[in-house]
Amino acid sequence: FGDRVLQGKKVVVSAGPTYEDIDPVRFIGNRSSGRMGFAVAEAAAQAGAQVTLVAGPVTLATPHGVAERIDVRSAAQMHAAVTKAAADADIYIGAAAVGDYRPNAVSEHKLKKQSGSDLTLQLAENPDILASLSAQRVHPFLVGFAAETQNVESYARDKLQRKGLDMIAANQVGHGLGFETADNAITLYWPDGSAELPRADKASLAHQLIERIATRYKAVRG
Ligand code: PMT
Repeated sequence: FGDRVLQGKKVVVSAGPTYEDIDPVRFIGNRSSGRMGFAVAEAAAQAGAQVTLVAGPVTLATPHGVAERIDVRSAAQMHAAVTKAAADADIYIGAAAVGDYRPNAVSEHKLKKQSGSDLTLQLAENPDILASLSAQRVHPFLVGFAAETQNVESYARDKLQRKGLDMIAANQVGHGLGFETADNAITLYWPDGSAELPRADKASLAHQLIERIATRYKAVRG
């Protein structure tokens, strides 16, 4: 970035999956590798922001220039860490794939197999991090991601509105895009507009995304 478009801004980025423990050896997780969120954190730092990266369980090195990294495991831990870090932030970018549900209870001991019968897990709903931030009277500029396998635009616009976001970056997942891969393709939506960021590697997409976020942030927050 020649002009350091986020100079002096505090930006919080979440990345990676969450793991919801079932017992000491098993969990419910998802395919997020953290690559997209880590690329966004690095691009924000290169744009001059002071970046806090809240990371789920991933195997990635902290990107150059990131001021603070907080490692978490579950959605509840991510919620607590993001809420604290975002209290005085200018922008929150939620690139993490947060588990929507967790087991009702975590078993203290390894569950034993009961041969010949099905096993039913009771799940409880996790809090929505973005929606809980947007419900606060004063909150950062909020950017969500939407990972969809179909109806990308209608699901993304629904999340933009329902979660009270300023922007949402929608990616179609599957077919070598989105989760775990080196490349992604994004359509960005905001209340009165949209932009295509065609297929590219995640570092290059993250740079374009940060440019767009900075432009919108200035338009909305001055
Ligand atoms: O990590 P990679 O392998 O590089 O893959 C990148 C990615 C595909 C995971 C990423 O680009 C992406 O799309 N992340 C969001 C995936 C997702 O879980 O989307 P969602 O539709 O479930 O959630 C929508 C938004 O709400 C997201 O910003 C999510 O962080 C947020 N959310 C969801 C649930 C919850 N309890 N709290 C939230 O804040």
